[in-house]
Amino acid sequence: MQTIFTTSPAEAAEFIKRGGTVAFPTETVYGLGADIFDEIAVAKIFEAKNRPADNPLIAHIADLRQITELSDCVNRNAHKFIDAFFPGPLTIVLPKTDRVPRVATAGLDTIGIRMPRFELAHQFLAECETSVAAPSANLSGSPSPTTWKAVAEDMDGRIDCILRSDATEIGIESTVVDCTSETPMVLRSGSVSIEQLRAVVSSTLVYDFSETESRRSPGLRHKHYSPRATVVIVENATGLIFESRAAYIGLNRPSAKFDRKLVCSGVAEYAHSLFEYFRECDRLGIKKVYCEKVPESGVGAALMDRIRRAALR
Ligand code: TXA
Ligand code: MG
Repeated sequence: MQTIFTTSPAEAAEFIKRGGTVAFPTETVYGLGADIFDEIAVAKIFEAKNRPADNPLIAHIADLRQITELSDCVNRNAHKFIDAFFPGPLTIVLPKTDRVPRVATAGLDTIGIRMPRFELAHQFLAECETSVAAPSANLSGSPSPTTWKAVAEDMDGRIDCILRSDATEIGIESTVVDCTSETPMVLRSGSVSIEQLRAVVSSTLVYDFSETESRRSPGLRHKHYSPRATVVIVENATGLIFESRAAYIGLNRPSAKFDRKLVCSGVAEYAHSLFEYFRECDRLGIKKVYCEKVPESGVGAALMDRIRRAALR
């Protein structure tokens, strides 16, 4: 398959209308989209990514009115989150309508809904004239793509089109909050922090992932975000010693010399840089990446979640 590269949202949307697959930028990471109501198109996403069929996709919208075609049970808490965070990096999980095919939700009777705030994403989604099912545009298991080149690395020849833009602003995926029960439950941390969610619905809980049974977000069962290099978490940057083919990323200057290092000015820059840094280290043949711990408040919680997953072997 030949993959077309474009910077035109209208040209990219034509592929969606014809039942194809398009990678597009959002403020979090690049997504890989297809018309959510077209089962054959949605199946192409799973195939292109090698995504397990039991991992549901998020519906992306350009206009709040699209929510009614996806869910007819938008409860009070969901309304509050929508008012506070749409458009933006928050995904809310609600009961789905019969119209949404089960292939998109991996057999679940719920659907994740998100309205990106990045202008080009908005233009593309508006041109599609349908809700767009989209996971992150990486091969399953590898770090989410934050640049169009990272998308091309994984997807060139596997999808119809890549809508090119700059590196994504935030660099870490959206927060996923399940609103199907009385108490909202955070299933995946992201750039909307738990503190921000609780300021809107104070009873919001964070799902305890140490409970292995009945995991509510199937995606979290799967291995994620890992570079080929081994990821090692360090308490701080001092006390590290030189190692060949090793790299470092963190907020403080490391005590040893590294083949590659990235000292970030703050947690936001760390989050913005992490996934592309992992890919860059793999391109350079780095064998080990040391990641410095950060406090788990605000986006720091999501950042540490991604680093911990990457460190799982
Ligand atoms: O920022 C983002 O969320 C990006 C951009 C492209 O929007 N998308 C993204 O999609 O990260 P994906 O598929 O890589 O991650 C979606 C996560 C997975 O962990 C999935 O299991 C969970 O959301 N999820 C989706 N629908 C769900 C549902 N109905 N119930 C529970 N979890 C769901
Ligand atoms: Mg993903």
